[in-house]
Amino acid sequence: MNRNRLFRFLPSHSFLPRALICTVLLIPCASLQVWATQTTSGMVGHEVVDFTIPASLTGASGDPIKGRVLSIQRNKGNCLSCHRMPIPEEDDHGITGPDLNGVASRLDIPALRLRIVDPKRINPETMMPAFYRVDGLHRVAKKFQGKPILTAEEVEDVVAYLATLK
Ligand code: HEC
Repeated sequence: MNRNRLFRFLPSHSFLPRALICTVLLIPCASLQVWATQTTSGMVGHEVVDFTIPASLTGASGDPIKGRVLSIQRNKGNCLSCHRMPIPEEDDHGITGPDLNGVASRLDIPALRLRIVDPKRINPETMMPAFYRVDGLHRVAKKFQGKPILTAEEVEDVVAYLATLK
């Protein structure tokens, strides 16, 4: 009789420690804010850690001269439509976003990278486009559907240019 009771108790008791171990393991994962993003065909995956993307999307650093050109191009960065930047040969500089003169003294490269890849991860209400994301976007013109605005290389070029704005 006593033995039977003991056996009936064992399974429920052994469940408790397992549940505790799972909970304890899950807490640090959630608080680190590490998400592996979905990779759409041809796009490079990246890891977001504490509102930054620490690793280069291409594994290399970009070209700041190309990044400056991409920032001006209307079908690419078009950053000047919303930001002031040290690009005096262009007349129209927008004021919707903050002045990017000196931005590299406020934000380091991993923080700049997330700003370009997917600023909605920092501020879901932002007007700034996500330059390297294809899911969860609305009102995307047909020819851009399934394609990010910038390629992984171009993101790194823009980030390299921004990093010069000290
Ligand atoms: C449609 C307008 C718009 C466009 C286009 C745009 N941005 Fe932004 N950007 C913003 C706004 C607004 C903010 C302010 C922060 C927020 O809304 O989250 C911002 C914030 C930023 C920040 C953070 C600045 C800081 O001081 O914290 C950086 C860096 C930045 N943008 C870079 C760029 C670059 C580079 C491009 C082009 C590749 C670009 N943005 C294109 C609107 C825009």
